[in-house]
Amino acid sequence: MAAPLESQPVLILDFGSQTSQLIARRVRELRIYSELVPHTVTAAEVRKRHPAAIILSGGPASVYQEGAPTADPDILELGIPVLGICYGCQWMARALGGTVERAAHREFGRAEIEIRESVEIFATLGPGKHPVWMSHGDQVEKLPRGFTVLAHTPTCPHAALGWRARKLYGVQFHPEVVHTPIGRDVLESFLVRVAGVPQQWRMADIVGQSVARIREQVGEGRVVCALSGGVDSAVTAALVHRAIGDRLTCVFVDNGVLRHGEVERVRQVFVDAFRMDLRVVDARDRFLDKLKGVTDPEEKRKRIGAEFIAVFDAESERLSGVTHLAQGTLYPDVIESVSNKGPSAVIKTHHNVGGLPKKMKLKLVEPLRELFKDEVRALGEELGLPRSLIRRQPFPGPGLAIRVLGEVTAPRLALVRAADVVVQEEIEAAGLAEGMWQAFAVLLPVRSVGVMGDGRTYEETVAIRAVTSEDGMTADWAWLPRDVLDRISSRIINQVRGVNRVVMDITSKPPGTIEWE
Ligand code: XMP
Repeated sequence: MAAPLESQPVLILDFGSQTSQLIARRVRELRIYSELVPHTVTAAEVRKRHPAAIILSGGPASVYQEGAPTADPDILELGIPVLGICYGCQWMARALGGTVERAAHREFGRAEIEIRESVEIFATLGPGKHPVWMSHGDQVEKLPRGFTVLAHTPTCPHAALGWRARKLYGVQFHPEVVHTPIGRDVLESFLVRVAGVPQQWRMADIVGQSVARIREQVGEGRVVCALSGGVDSAVTAALVHRAIGDRLTCVFVDNGVLRHGEVERVRQVFVDAFRMDLRVVDARDRFLDKLKGVTDPEEKRKRIGAEFIAVFDAESERLSGVTHLAQGTLYPDVIESVSNKGPSAVIKTHHNVGGLPKKMKLKLVEPLRELFKDEVRALGEELGLPRSLIRRQPFPGPGLAIRVLGEVTAPRLALVRAADVVVQEEIEAAGLAEGMWQAFAVLLPVRSVGVMGDGRTYEETVAIRAVTSEDGMTADWAWLPRDVLDRISSRIINQVRGVNRVVMDITSKPPGTIEWE
C-alpha cells in the first residue's frame, strides 16, 4: 500500500541545512511520507510529483550573497502549500518581492516568539509566548505583498509570516529541532490542517521503498557487505538480502578483538535464521601481529582500520562479479564526518564512514543514509532481526583493543573478554540493559597488591564503565545498584584469573570519553 502515499509526497527542498534530514525525520514521526529533493528541482519536475506540500529547508548561506542557493520561483505559483524554514523562509519572502537583510541582533539558540495571529499553523497553540530555537544572522525585513506577520520576537519582527489564502507560510525559527517544543505542533498543523496530508505512513513502508531503491541501484549486480556484529550493518545486510537475496555476500572479519561468542552469534542470525551467504575470515593472528608493541590509542585505531580494509579487500577480491559495497552509514555518521572535515579537533578517529571502498572501486549502497539510530532499530524489528541484536549496545570498531590499556596481547585480551562477559550477564540479569547506553569492562595497565586465601597477590585491575546517554556525544555515569556491583566484583575476582581488583569509573562525558582510549 506504499503507492498512494508516494503518489502525493511531501517534498523537502534542501538548501543545504544540517537539519534537512531532521525535517524529514519529523515528518516521518507524523506518519507522513516525505522525500528530500535538491533545491535545484524545477517547478515542472515538482508538478509531475503531485506533492501534497512543500517544505523549504534552512541553509548556511545568505540569500542575497552571490552564488547562494536558490530555487525555481515558479514552485511558489503551483498552488501547493509551502512552509519555508529559516533560509527557506527568507528565500520565499525575497522571491515574492520582500527583502532580507542582515539582522541588527543575530539570534543563535533559545528565543521566545509571541504569536500574534492564531492562524492554521498555530491552531493547536494558545496565544502568547513560546520558546523556540533560532539560528540566523539575516531576517526578513519587508514582507512580500499578501503576507502578514504571524509571530515576532523582541529582535525579529517577522519570526513567522504567512499568506493564508495561498497557503504560503514561513518561520524564522527551526521547528524540526528538539529545542523548539512547539515544533511538532507547527509541522503537524501545516501538513495536516493546511495541506490536508493523510497520516498513514508506517515503518513497513520504508522497507518497501528501500528494497525498490536497492533493486534499481544494483540491477543485475552483486553486493558485498561487511558485518560488524552491530545493528547498522545487520539491518543493512537484512535489507539488501530482502532486495536481492543470494546475490548478497556478507563478510565477517574475526579480528581477535571481539567480544566473547561473537562469531557464533553472527552465524546464528545470518546463516541459521536468514540463510545468507556469510564468509567468516579468521584474521585474529594478523591483527594481533599488527598490534604488537602498540600502546597509543590512535595508533591502535589506525592499524586496526587499515588491517580491516586489507582483509576485507582480499576477501572481496575472491568473490566474483561483485559490483557494489553495502555500508550501514547512518545520517548522524554523515553529519559527523562532514563536520569532522571542519576545523573542529578530532578527538578520536572513527572508521565508520567512507573508510572502505577507496581501493575497491565498488559502487556504494547505503540504504540507511537518511535514517537515525532509533529508526534503524525499528526497521531491524520490521525485518525480523532478533531483539537481542537490535537492542545491542554500541561496540567500537577497534573493539577490545581500546579496552586493554597499554599493549594488546592475547592473554590481556582474554582477561578483558572474560570480565566483559560477567558485566554483560549481570547487567542483563538485573534488567538494567535497556536503560544503559553501554556497560563494559576495561583492563587497566595497573597491578596492585591483594590477598587471596593466605597468599599475597600482585595482579591486574579491571574498571567497570557503565553510562547512560542519548546519542553517545555526552554521557552520564550510571549508578548501578550495590548488589549488582557486588556480584560483578566478586565474580570477576573469582572467575577471571589474574585480576585481583575491580574499580568503578564515575566520570561523565565530558570531561571523560566513554571509552578509556
Ligand atoms: P567516546 O569514547 O568517544 O565514544 O566517548 C563515543 C561512542 O563511540 C564509540 N567509539 C567508537 N566507535 N570506532 C567506533 O566505531 C571507534 O574508534 C570508537 N571509539 C569510540 C564508543 O563505544 C561510544 O559508543
